[in-house]
Amino acid sequence: MAPFNLFFLLYLLFIPTSGYVQPYEDGFVSGVISNKGLDFAKDLLIEKGIESIVLLKLPEIENSAQVSLVGKAKVVLSDITIKDVQVNSSSVVIGESGIVVVVSGATADLSMKWKYTVSSWLIPIGISDSGTASIKVKGMQVGLTLNLKNQEGRLKLSLLDHGCYVGDLSIKLDGGAAWLYQLLVDAFEENIASSVEEGISGKIKEGITKLDNFLQALPKQISIDETAALNVSFVGNPVLSNSSVAVAINGLFTRTSEILVPQSYKKGYKVSSACGGLPKMIKVSIHENVFKSASLVYFNAGKMQLIIDELPDQALLNTAEWRFIVPQLYKRYPNDNMQINVSASSPPVIQVSYQDIGATVSVDVTINVLESGETIPVACLSVDVSASCSVEILGNNIAGRIRLQNFSAYLKWSKIGKLRIHLIQSLISSALKTVVLPYLNRQLKSGYPLPTIDDYGFQNSIVLYNYPWISVCSDASFIEEDYYLVQQSTYAS
Ligand SMILES: *[C@@H]1O[C@H](CO)[C@@H](O)[C@H](O)[C@H]1NC(C)=O
Ligand SMILES: *[C@@H]1O[C@H](CO)[C@@H](O)[C@H](O)[C@H]1NC(C)=O
Ligand SMILES: *[C@@H]1O[C@H](CO)[C@@H](O)[C@H](O)[C@H]1NC(C)=O
Ligand SMILES: *[C@@H]1O[C@H](CO)[C@@H](O)[C@H](O)[C@H]1NC(C)=O
Ligand SMILES: *[C@@H]1O[C@H](CO)[C@@H](O)[C@H](O)[C@H]1NC(C)=O
Repeated sequence: MAPFNLFFLLYLLFIPTSGYVQPYEDGFVSGVISNKGLDFAKDLLIEKGIESIVLLKLPEIENSAQVSLVGKAKVVLSDITIKDVQVNSSSVVIGESGIVVVVSGATADLSMKWKYTVSSWLIPIGISDSGTASIKVKGMQVGLTLNLKNQEGRLKLSLLDHGCYVGDLSIKLDGGAAWLYQLLVDAFEENIASSVEEGISGKIKEGITKLDNFLQALPKQISIDETAALNVSFVGNPVLSNSSVAVAINGLFTRTSEILVPQSYKKGYKVSSACGGLPKMIKVSIHENVFKSASLVYFNAGKMQLIIDELPDQALLNTAEWRFIVPQLYKRYPNDNMQINVSASSPPVIQVSYQDIGATVSVDVTINVLESGETIPVACLSVDVSASCSVEILGNNIAGRIRLQNFSAYLKWSKIGKLRIHLIQSLISSALKTVVLPYLNRQLKSGYPLPTIDDYGFQNSIVLYNYPWISVCSDASFIEEDYYLVQQSTYAS
């Protein structure tokens, strides 16, 4: 039987520390769970724990005792079942080397069957009886100390210490005799109490093992599409402080087919756990290198290319429309359809600032003429585009919306003579505003997945920009059927 003071000692064992840093140079996504978040997780853990304990059947208890005036009684208690558990108060405390969860003042209701046989020199054949009883357990204390460690890129959850202590127990017999009641109280109470304690301790071990198996089964890499995967390996050990638990994952995009050279970041990678003064359960911070890695992966895979063969003003994609502006074009390819090939010429430069994410993209815009099944490039423009991207939370994804800031263009080469660039610019402007940006915004809408656990996701999220990090502060909530409904996000900085 674990003494009550055990849990008090557990508290003292862990000297709280304050503040924290992100000490791992290749962790580009960091997650900080605040006390509020831990409280939420603890309540969830207790709820799951109770679910697993209810209907738990404890082993049979058998005992014999000499009962005065009755004889030698052999009593068997069976079907001892925990029917219900109520938790009055619980707490979670973070120390340097573990997370302590304590449940105090819990009560439990049990039911059981009893059966006895009595034999004495008076009645050598023996008499027997059976019936049911209910048990109320009060003042139950449960405590456990958990530890999280990085084990080859995965989180390893271990149970450092645990215990369960039954404070008080009362038995109510249905039928039976007065002596049986007294016998149960005198000789069996202790047995029932330790059976409950062992049963619950066993369930704690089982539950933590299950949770650990769940963590072990989490992938180290998540495939995004046929081109890119996300490296979600944990980096370094979780950092425990008295107000938060911080974890870091690599978080970079990689080619599904190749391993990228590991990157690490410059000084100034510290990420704070503050959420602009708001009490949020969790803060997820993404370093700008995550976006840079995405840019590099998609560029190297040749995915930053868009063929435009439809425009709101379709006539622009026929040489006839250009016969007065670019007569050579019409002369060589009369009434032919055209196509525009927009292709990034270098990986887009992406930077997180203090108010948004800035992107500078250099693209080659090639004008193709389609003649008798052939695609003939006739001119190429080099276009530099500056855009800003604001980030929002859509469901459980971090998604973006791009706004065009400015662009400049010059002619790279032409087979159809000199082009009047200001006329071409209006075509590019139209293409950017009506085709390219809407297309990119559709792509970005699905976004970058934020981690979810089980069916729990983000709620009431805010986005914070803090160069070179962009952070999402959020509360966790159960994701219901309307998961895909767009959540309104608010902005703060
Ligand atoms: C954490 O520790 C620091 C200093 O040790 C203290 O100032 C702060 O109040 C503590 N926070 C909590 C939530 O206990
Ligand atoms: C629950 O805890 C509160 C405060 O600690 C106490 O006043 C109350 O009596 C407890 N209730 C039960 C059912 O133990
Ligand atoms: C994923 O990240 C971990 C930790 O930074 C690193 O050791 C590993 O090599 C990365 N894996 C790939 C495929 O890049
Ligand atoms: C589009 O242009 C890029 C370079 O400007 C070229 O590599 C690519 O093959 C072109 N794509 C098509 C379908 O013409
Ligand atoms: C856009 O404008 C800014 C400031 O006026 C300038 O620094 C930047 O180079 C421009 N970008 C392009 C692509 O012209």
